Amino acid sequence: MNISVIGTGYVGLVTGAVFADLGHKVCCVDVDESKIEKLIQGEIPFFEPGLQELVKKNLNKGRLIFTTSYEQSVPNSQVVFICVGTPPKNNGEPNLEYLYQATESTAKYLKDYTLIAIKSTVPIGVEKELESVIKKNSDAEFEFASCPEFLREGSAVEDTKTPDRVIIGTNSKKAADILLKLYEHFNGQRIICDLTSAQMTKYAANSLLATKISFANAIANLCESTGADVESVLKGVGLDKRLGRAFLYPGVGYGGSCFPKDISAFIKIAEKEKIDFKLLKAVEEINNNQPKKLFDKVIRELGNIKNETVAILGLAFKPNTDDIREAPSIKIIEMLLNKGAKIKVYDPEAMENVKKLFGDKIQYEETPYLAVTDASAALLITEWNEFKELDLEEIKRLMKKPIIFDGRNIYDPQEVRKLGFIYHSIGRA
Ligand SMILES: NC(=O)c1ccc[n+]([C@@H]2O[C@H](COP(=O)([O-])OP(=O)(O)OC[C@H]3O[C@@H](n4cnc5c(N)ncnc54)[C@H](O)[C@@H]3O)[C@@H](O)[C@H]2O)c1
Repeated sequence: MNISVIGTGYVGLVTGAVFADLGHKVCCVDVDESKIEKLIQGEIPFFEPGLQELVKKNLNKGRLIFTTSYEQSVPNSQVVFICVGTPPKNNGEPNLEYLYQATESTAKYLKDYTLIAIKSTVPIGVEKELESVIKKNSDAEFEFASCPEFLREGSAVEDTKTPDRVIIGTNSKKAADILLKLYEHFNGQRIICDLTSAQMTKYAANSLLATKISFANAIANLCESTGADVESVLKGVGLDKRLGRAFLYPGVGYGGSCFPKDISAFIKIAEKEKIDFKLLKAVEEINNNQPKKLFDKVIRELGNIKNETVAILGLAFKPNTDDIREAPSIKIIEMLLNKGAKIKVYDPEAMENVKKLFGDKIQYEETPYLAVTDASAALLITEWNEFKELDLEEIKRLMKKPIIFDGRNIYDPQEVRKLGFIYHSIGRA
């Protein structure tokens, strides 16, 4: 099939590369010229395991094309996947300007019947307005479908190749058949439903995942007050087959480009329906407080941190990505800088992105060992595997004061304390 993918971010680029790998002819369109120039050379603009190889392979086979031209792409495509960003506005609603622009640009070059499948996470019912944008710009036959994306950054290629489910939101048999054919070689159950239900499924899934994280954090906070151990508690809870342990891990809170914005968008969607989504408001509030809770522990332990060096290990919002959107590390660095601390940071992939935010206000180190050298505290914020393998004796030797704040509970408290560290974690004595 000839496919257009609009937007070459995490979702669009991975979707395009995976479909090309299955033998489809995929044309990826983006308005960002420098991104497209890089992609034409086979350079990936962000870190995502396995993506570089997949893109290069399919570029070389001529099945994957990158362009800034809708005209080159849309008229030849049976399916157009819209994968542009829907970032949050200040009021929590999603900013839909890229979605409208992408739809209008697509409309101008529609030729024969085209299925426009929306992978971006969009508010319920938005396709009605998008339909009028198309009709203003084109007489061609088209249909919209919702095909929400569930990939996770860090394992996006594998997730796309082997999805748990494929949701196809459309009332049209023709549209459903096209998408079923396109996804015929993929795993996972197919759920065919109306567009509204498909859009709602995406928000509901992310909301439940975020709820589990905030629940784990609420339990951790209670454990800290009562002296219970959150790891034992959540292990005990998670072994119940009805519940499971996934996403029941406490920490410094969720971040990234999806959960924070999707939770606030879902609250707004409910508000429009005159429903007060109190549960999600609490999820959001708990999450917003988690970075501050770790910061408060630092202040309680160290007192005045003016001119004290603090090491930050891990900047990405989660391991295996360089994405720092809404990352807890950013909030924690800001709070520490406000108190006059000197910050040294290390992350295997995300330092370039953090440099764009903080410039020379903080120091970037090539290794975790250089980051902790002369530091009065080390804060572990992202649970990269390499931090689990650190030589803690060497870390202790290099630090000015051997104090660790483990924001992801990756170390065993007893073992770390045996080495002579003062050790703080989340929800554990
Ligand atoms: N990142 C994830 O893990 C993930 C997972 C599931 C769903 N989603 C959803 O998918 C959507 C895309 O997310 P992302 O993380 O890939 O975004 P992203 O910010 O990484 O990429 C979006 C891309 O769209 C491009 N773009 C903007 N306007 C355009 C236009 N008019 N024409 C062509 N290209 C345009 C941008 O230049 C950018 O390259 C969002 O709605 C997001 O919520 C993201």
